[in-house]
Amino acid sequence: MNNTYSETAPAAGTRKFDVESIRSDFPILARKINGRNLIYLDNAATSQKPRQVIKSLTDYYEQTNANVHRGVHTLSIEATDEYELARSKVANFINAPRPEEVIWTRNTSESLNLVAATWAEQNVGEGDNIVITAMEHHSNIVPWQQLAARKKAELRYLAAGEDGLLDISNLESIVDSRTRLVAMTHMSNVLGTVNPVRELADRAHAVGAVILVDAAQSVPHMPVDVRSLDVDFLCFSAHKMLGPTGIGVLWGRYDLLEEMPPYMFGGDMILEVTYEDANWNKLPYKFEAGTPNIADAIATGAAVDYLNDLGMDNVWLHEQELTVYAMEKFSALNEVKILGPKDPTLRGGVVSFIHETIHPHDLGTALDQQGIAIRTGHHCAMPLIRSFDVVAAARASFYIYNTKSEIDALVNGIRETEGYFSR
Ligand SMILES: Cc1ncc(COP(=O)(O)O)c(C=O)c1O
Repeated sequence: MNNTYSETAPAAGTRKFDVESIRSDFPILARKINGRNLIYLDNAATSQKPRQVIKSLTDYYEQTNANVHRGVHTLSIEATDEYELARSKVANFINAPRPEEVIWTRNTSESLNLVAATWAEQNVGEGDNIVITAMEHHSNIVPWQQLAARKKAELRYLAAGEDGLLDISNLESIVDSRTRLVAMTHMSNVLGTVNPVRELADRAHAVGAVILVDAAQSVPHMPVDVRSLDVDFLCFSAHKMLGPTGIGVLWGRYDLLEEMPPYMFGGDMILEVTYEDANWNKLPYKFEAGTPNIADAIATGAAVDYLNDLGMDNVWLHEQELTVYAMEKFSALNEVKILGPKDPTLRGGVVSFIHETIHPHDLGTALDQQGIAIRTGHHCAMPLIRSFDVVAAARASFYIYNTKSEIDALVNGIRETEGYFSR
C-alpha cells in the first residue's frame, strides 16, 4: 500500500522556498490578535491569501470587469480570456487532459453535490451500492446518504483502523460487482491520513465502478495528478489553496461529463432555446449556468501561479517537516492524544488532538488569547469524531507560511492553559 503522494507527478518550482519571504506576501500575518502576533494554524478550514491573489481581484475589478462569453467589446473579451486562462492553469495544475474538463463550482461541497445530482442520479439504481470511507467530511457523506435513500441503494463504508489508516483488508468484498461509485477523501481533514487513491481506483475500475476523490485537503498541499491517480472525478476548493472563497472545482473525465445531464439551467449553459425546448452547450459551459464567478476564478489562477512558483513538492516537504516537528513536540504533552497515523510520513499537515482534561473549546479560546488560531469542534466529520468517544477535538493545521517557532508557541500555549486550568 502506498500512502504517500509519490503516486503523483512531481512539481518543481522556480522560487526559493524561503518562509520569511513567503510570509511577507501575506498582509494578514502582520495582524495582532489580543495584543500578540497572529499565529494562524487553521489552514485546513481556509488558508490566508497572498498579496498576489488579492491584487488579482482588485486588478480585475479596476481594469477588466465585464461579463464573459457574451460581448464583442474589449473588456468582455479580456475578461473571457482571463477567465478561460485560469481554467487552463487549474487543468495543468492537476494534469487534466483537457481544460474543458474543469468545471467551476462554488466549492468542494457543490462539486460533490453536482456529481450526486447528475452522474449518480443516472447511474445508481436499486440494489447498487456506493462506497465511501469512515473518514469523510460531511460534504462527502450526506449527498450519498440522500442519494442511497432516494434510489434504494446501499451506502457502504471502508473503516478507519486504530492506526488512523484506511482499512482496506476487505476491499474486495466491500467494492463488489454492485458498486457503482467509490467516493473517498484523498487526505482526511481530521486524521491527516493520506489515502491510497490509486489502489482504490484500480479496484473500482476492476468492478466497473467510477471513483470520485474529495481532494479538498490534498490539492492545496501536494502534487496531485489526475492521470497517474487514474480517477474519474476530483473536487476541491480555491479558498483552501490561497484562493478566494466562493469558488471551487469539479474535474471530471470528458466522456463522463459529456454523458451527464446539466445540474442547473439558464443562460450560458444552452446552445439553442425555442419556446418549446432547449439543448445544451458544450463542455464546460453545460455545467456553468448564469454569470459565473469571474473575478474569483481569475484569482484562483493567481493562487495556482503562486503555488507553482514554490513548487508543490516543496510545499509538501515543508509541511512534512512541520508535521514531524509538531508530533515530536506534542509527544512531550502528557495529557494530549494525537489522532491519526503515528508515522508522520503517512499523513499531511493536519494534527488533531484531544486533551484529557481541557475541553477543546476552552483550549481554543485560551489559545486565541495568545493570538493562536486553531480549529475546535467536530470538524464536519461527526461520525469519525464520535468514534473516539468525544464530541469535539482540537486541530492545528499547517501551510506554507507556518514555522517551527509557531509550533513551539502552540505547545507553550497548551502548557500555559494547562497551568491555568490546574489552578
Ligand atoms: C476533506 C474536505 N472535504 C470537503 C470540504 C468542504 O469544503 P467546502 O466547505 O469548501 O465546500 C472540506 C472543508 O473543510 C474538507 O476538509
